[in-house]
Amino acid sequence: MEILKTKRLMQQWSRARKKKGKTICFVPTMGYLHQGHISLLEKGKPLCDELVLSIFVNPSQFGPNEDLDAYPMDIDNDLRLAAVAGVTAVFLPQKEDIYPPHFQTRICLDSLPHHLCGMSRPVHFGGVATVVTKLFHIVMPDVAIFGKKDFQQLQIIRQMTWDLDFNIEIMGGEIVREKDGLAMSSRNAYLTADQRKSALSLSRSLHMAGQVIAKGEKNPLVIEKEISCFIQSFPQTRIEYISFCDPATLETVGVIDKQILLALAVQVGKTRLIDNVLIDPPQ
Ligand code: PAF
Repeated sequence: MEILKTKRLMQQWSRARKKKGKTICFVPTMGYLHQGHISLLEKGKPLCDELVLSIFVNPSQFGPNEDLDAYPMDIDNDLRLAAVAGVTAVFLPQKEDIYPPHFQTRICLDSLPHHLCGMSRPVHFGGVATVVTKLFHIVMPDVAIFGKKDFQQLQIIRQMTWDLDFNIEIMGGEIVREKDGLAMSSRNAYLTADQRKSALSLSRSLHMAGQVIAKGEKNPLVIEKEISCFIQSFPQTRIEYISFCDPATLETVGVIDKQILLALAVQVGKTRLIDNVLIDPPQ
């Protein structure tokens, strides 16, 4: 496994592989790898000749009062896990290499970033779209894989790839959950034991909503009321949003008569957690 610490070295590596006719699968991350990331690497491994992982905590996707400085890191463990997963190259750039002085370009999309997490994180998706664009130009992958836990991010990357004619296939990786249902996230590391219990309110309420919809409820407001009471019954929870929306546009739906995305963001203590599920109404 090669470790490439500058964009020049990464581009040289990718160009050399491409010259030899090799295909490249890419999994971009901010590190502190968990089973969710590993599942993306496992999905990507058989798809291409090379498997590239990037680890870069991207400052431009954090707002002023977010957890950039506290974001968990363990590069040695990440490299160990990457090697076991069959990664052939790790791109590990420095901030100054990605954002040199006087950097001033930002990718922005018209509507997808303004829903769900974008309502409270106005700079987030611009930062994601910008860094992913740069990473795509540096790594030059044929396929790139993003987790479905960040459903909105995945939709934004798909749209951007389509809009800007990137010749890259974007794939989604399933949400990986702990045994008790908590969606895996690097941010779970912030939770105390009590908060960890309250964090289960997210996956459980998604499950509850699925059951209510399966019984024929079509009104999102009725289900929202039920699951918001449920979440609030757990200590230290503060709901940021509960959204029943169209999975393609992320716009709120008024009636559940076709597949919907139910997406949640809940603050547990000081940790902001998200989770989602696609739900089909009964036929
Ligand atoms: O999902 C993430 O970890 C990040 O948003 C990404 C895609 C690596 C961009 O910084």
